[in-house]
This record gives sequence, C-alpha cells and structure tokens, in this order.
Amino acid sequence: MQKLLILSLAATSGLAAIASSHSNTPASLKEVYAPFFTVGAAVKETHFEGREADLLLSQYNSITPENLLKWEKVHPTENAFFWDHADAMVEFGTRNGLEIFGHTLIWHNQNPEWVFKDAEGNDASPELLLERMRNHIHTVVGRYKGRIHGWDVVNEALNEDGSMRESAFYRILGEDYIAKAFIFAHEADPDAQLIYNDFNIENPEKRAGTVRLIRKLLDQGIPISGVGIQEHVRLDWPSRELLSEAIAEYAALGIKVMITELDVDVLPSAFDNQGADLSLHAELRDELNPYPNGLPEDVHQALAKRYGELFSVYLEHADAIARVTLWGLNDGGSWLNHWPMRGRTSYPLLHDRNMEPKPAFFKILEVGATAKYCH
Ligand code: GLA
Repeated sequence: MQKLLILSLAATSGLAAIASSHSNTPASLKEVYAPFFTVGAAVKETHFEGREADLLLSQYNSITPENLLKWEKVHPTENAFFWDHADAMVEFGTRNGLEIFGHTLIWHNQNPEWVFKDAEGNDASPELLLERMRNHIHTVVGRYKGRIHGWDVVNEALNEDGSMRESAFYRILGEDYIAKAFIFAHEADPDAQLIYNDFNIENPEKRAGTVRLIRKLLDQGIPISGVGIQEHVRLDWPSRELLSEAIAEYAALGIKVMITELDVDVLPSAFDNQGADLSLHAELRDELNPYPNGLPEDVHQALAKRYGELFSVYLEHADAIARVTLWGLNDGGSWLNHWPMRGRTSYPLLHDRNMEPKPAFFKILEVGATAKYCH
C-alpha cells in the first residue's frame, strides 16, 4: 500500500515524491536502477572534487574517463606514459566503491602520430605496430589490473555499411588487429570485461557488420565479453523498435550489452545520419544553434519524454544490459557544444549548466521507480 502510494506520487510530481520506502531521502539514479544495471557517467580530471564529485557520487555508481585514458593522453610519446589523471580517477573510483570502465585502448582517433611511423617517418611495419599495441595495452591495462573492471578494447572499427574502417591499424595489420587487441588486454587482466564499442550500431547495416565481427571473434575463441552501443542519439533516432531489435540481437550472441556513451542531441543536425563521426565538421550558422539563451520548456519536455522512452527500452532488456553510462555530467561539459562545430549551446544530458537536474532526470527516475516497484 505504502509502495503503491509512492508510485502514484512519483508518476505525478517528480523527485520530491520519489522517496525510498525506508526514508524521505530522494532516490537517486543508482539506487532506482540498482536491481537492473549500473548507471554511469563519463568523467574528466576536474570531476574528482567539489560539486562535480558530489553530483557524481550522489547519482552514479560507475565511471568512464571521457578522454584521459585515450592513447594521446596517457601515452603521448613512445617511452613516456602520463598517469596523473588516470591514477586520480582510479583512486577516486576505488575509494568510493565505483565500477570503473576504461576507454579506450585501440581507436582510429586521438592517437599520437608516432604510433604509426617508424624511425624514418615511413609507415610502421606490421611487427612494429603490433609490438607497440602489445606494449601500450599491457602497460595501461596492467597498471590498473583488478581496479579497472572493464575496457572498451576496440572502438569504432566499422563503417556505416558494416565494412571495416580503413584505419591505420587496419591498413597496416588487417582485420586481425582487433583479435590481437582483445588477446593483449586479456593477457594483462584476465578478469576484466572486454568490450567492442561503436556508434550507430543500432542501424541494420552497421548492426549486421557488428554481429559478423563479434561472431567471428567468438568463433575464434577471442575473449570478448560485451558490446558497447554508444548511443549518441537524437530525439527521433533510433526509434524504440530499432533500438530494441539491436539490443535483442546483440544479447542473442550471448555477450553483455552496455550503453556506453548516452546523450540525446536536441539541436538540428548538420548532416544526415551523423552518429558520432568526429571527422565531420560544419560551419556554425544561427539555425544550427537555436537555443543560445536556454532551452524552451517544450523542448525540455520532449527531451524528458525521449529519455523516458530510452530507459524504458533498456528496462525491457534489463537481463541483457549490464550498464548505462551517460556521456558527461552536465550540459556545459558536453562534447556536443563543440562538435561538429564549435560555439553551439547544447543540452544533451540530465543536469544543466548550473548542475541542476532537468526534467529528463526526473523522468528517468520516475520510469525506474515504477519498474523497481514492479520488479
Ligand atoms: C566517440 C568516442 C568518445 C568521444 C565521443 C565524443 O563516441 O568513443 O571517446 O570522443 O566520440 O566525445
């Protein structure tokens, strides 16, 4: 009876009413979704103290570094690693009992140029590049063995049509670079969850390519434990059906599904089907930056509705989904203010520029609280 009352209040009046049945403390994302999956945020090195840390610890039980473990950040020159920020993140996560995911080991972007060159400035030989991959992965994964719980081992290896992306890794090593990356990561930490991560893999062609790739790895006995659907989505893409089909198809492979980089772009798209292709750039025009002074209430509501829909799909697949990670803590810190052009005012996350919760946040709590009760 008491729980029913909480539910009906939750459905009408947001956070204040979504109290746990044991206290009057407002529930948090991590509490409400605890029966189903962990809820994470992408973090920056400035997030481990002050208001950012408070918000992080009050709502989330999982973290992923947005940039600080990318190759160019952690291993900028051949013989030097830069650990300060990654160490601070792992220390913060460990001290606070958070699940920590590493992002990312092998990706075509944000690599220093030396990785692909030999001493003469020519393309590195396959042997040299493979040895560099081994050293990079063993050193980074090995340093945080047992403390970083899983890794995006390979990020974005596929084109939109599902074929292999012509990255420098692919050009020099062929498709086998993917299997090798997983093997090296497994050698460095046999207990870590090892993920293939990509964007737009809800779409049928790219999804088919992803399924092909993962099946092949599984058939070869490669230690892959999950697929990361990035989920840089829009108000109208992907549809509920498309997303649900994609999750079901990945789950049918017998691996974990993770939503790894969730945000919802409410600004007009500069391209068709942009996904998160960082090579795309566009000129800033007023019509691409329609809300420089704040988000109108109707768009707030549309965003909340969309987040509610996404989380209701995740809940339908709760048996398959291990984690849902938001790609940032608040709107002001989102990459979508800078891409595909600088100077836009973006609103893709759950907390605003003052770190205040948005209607989207309350909507997700409401959806989770209802499901928690039914669970
Ligand atoms: C991709 C990458 C992330 C990040 C986003 C944009 O999704 O996986 O690391 O760079 O693009 O922030």
